Parts: sequence; C-alpha cells; structure tokens
Amino acid sequence: MNKIALILVLLTLSLSMGCKKKDESSEPKEIAGVPTVDEQMKEWPEEQAEKEKEQAREAGEMQEEVISEAFEKEKKIMEAEGTKEKEGGIVSKIEEKTKEMHEEQVKKEEITAPPEIAAELWNLIQTENYTMRWKMWPGKEAFYKGTKPHGALLTTYVNSIGYDAVVKKESKLPLGTIIIKENYMPDKMLGAITVMYNLAGFDPEHNNWFWVKYAPDGKPMTMDKDGTTMTLAGKVPGCIGCHSASNSGIDFIMTTPE
Ligand code: HEC
Repeated sequence: MNKIALILVLLTLSLSMGCKKKDESSEPKEIAGVPTVDEQMKEWPEEQAEKEKEQAREAGEMQEEVISEAFEKEKKIMEAEGTKEKEGGIVSKIEEKTKEMHEEQVKKEEITAPPEIAAELWNLIQTENYTMRWKMWPGKEAFYKGTKPHGALLTTYVNSIGYDAVVKKESKLPLGTIIIKENYMPDKMLGAITVMYNLAGFDPEHNNWFWVKYAPDGKPMTMDKDGTTMTLAGKVPGCIGCHSASNSGIDFIMTTPE
C-alpha cells in the first residue's frame, strides 16, 4: 500500500510541474508598443481575477476527488482478488485521469483570460500581415462609409478561413474566421480596430465569437460603465447585443457581402 501512496504523490507532483512548465512556455513575446499580458492583467477587474482563482481552486479539488476515487476503486478490486498491484491498474488509470484533468484545466485557463487572448490575437494578425495578405470584405474597398458606433470610414479584412463562407453568406462562419475592421476618422486617421475572432469553445451561446476593440497601438480599449471600467475584449455585451440584431443572415455579421 505504501508503494501506491508514493506513486500517487509522484504523479500529483509531476502533474503540477507539467502545469507550471506550460505557463512558462506559453508566455507571449513582448512587442514594442503592445502592453504585456501582466500589464493588461493589472487592469483586469478584481472580480474577474477572483472568479479565475475560484475556478482554478475547483479544478484542483475535482482532480483530488478523481484521484482518490480511482484509488478507492482499485483498492477494492485488489482486496477482492487478494492480489498485489498489477499492470494497467491504478497507475495507468490515474495517469489517464490526470492527463484529462490537466487538458481540461489548460483549456479553461485559455478561455477565461480575454486580455491574454486579445494580446495573442494582436500578435497573430501582425504576424499574418493582414493588410497585405488578406482580402477585403467582398464588395467593399478601402475607406468605405461606416455608421455609428464604428468609424466614419472603414476598411474591413477577412482571413482565408472565413472568406468563402462570407461570400456564400453562410449562417455560421467557420472556426478560426477572423474579421478585422479598421475604423478611421473623417481625415483618415486610424481611430480603432475592431475584430471578431471565431474561437472554438469560447462562447457557444453566441456562436463562439471573441470580440475586441483595439486602440491603434494594439491595446484593448476600455469603457466606463456604472462606475466600473470594462475591457472591450472577450464576450463584450455591447458588441454581442448590437450584432445579434443583424439581418444579413450571416453569423452576427452586419455588412451584407456583395
Ligand atoms: C450599436 C451597434 C453596434 C455595436 C455596439 C457594435 N457594432 Fe460592430 N458593426 C455595427 C454595424 C452597423 C456594422 C456595419 C458597418 C458599419 O456600418 O459601420 C458593424 C460592423 C462590424 C464589423 C465588420 C463585420 C460586420 O459585422 O459587418 C466588425 C468586425 C465589428 N462590427 C466589430 C464590433 C466589435 C468588436 C464591437 C464591440 C467592441 C462592435 N462591433 C460593436 C454595429 C455595431
């Protein structure tokens, strides 16, 4: 029995080390003018931070539960059979379960930190060099006329993942679709960049769109509402609310392609 306890401790330790390792390697690179994730996190409301802590705590507790459950089950089998630990027994079961839990936890972390996603998305679209490599919205050229709350003049790009589906006016655009709208003032000065990113599992209730409004320097913009400052990144109620009223028939999209 002592041997099993030791294996358990080792497995738990290696799992938590695995989690730490992931955190270090996934740290986004710094880019001049773009605030680091840490800087953005500072501005992230405390309430959200608390919620994330709570989720991490719950995931940890669930993990312990699963491990002790598997342990108890195996103990019973061993007692019934009067055998020693056998191959393919508790060790592989725990390994399997912990791996699952770990993956779930990683997924959760990724979908609960919008400022981090926003920073990664900004890096991605810069690397993609979208103004050179992506097509503009079908039927629209640079600096077409926009309406409130967006810019006076707009230039909108779609990545190749979503382009054909937009042309075909599909009611659901593919996962990985990114739409970038540059919002210009009447004098063609860039005011903001609004992006819709279809991110797997991010917001199933609203077709998984990740919404963000960047300042020209790549920092997500904020808005004051009822005395609190909210970052315009993630499931932004304003964006979702207005875009749900779209009548283009296309997945929260306002502009009918031509
Ligand atoms: C009050 C309504 C309203 C709100 C709020 C709003 N939008 Fe829009 N959005 C529009 C309209 C209307 C268009 C079509 C272009 C135009 O006429 O300005 C549009 C177009 C877009 C487009 C180009 C694709 C399309 O649907 O046509 C993107 C991307 C976009 N908005 C992102 C956002 C993001 C991100 C937010 C939140 C930060 C947001 N929008 C908030 C009304 C809104």
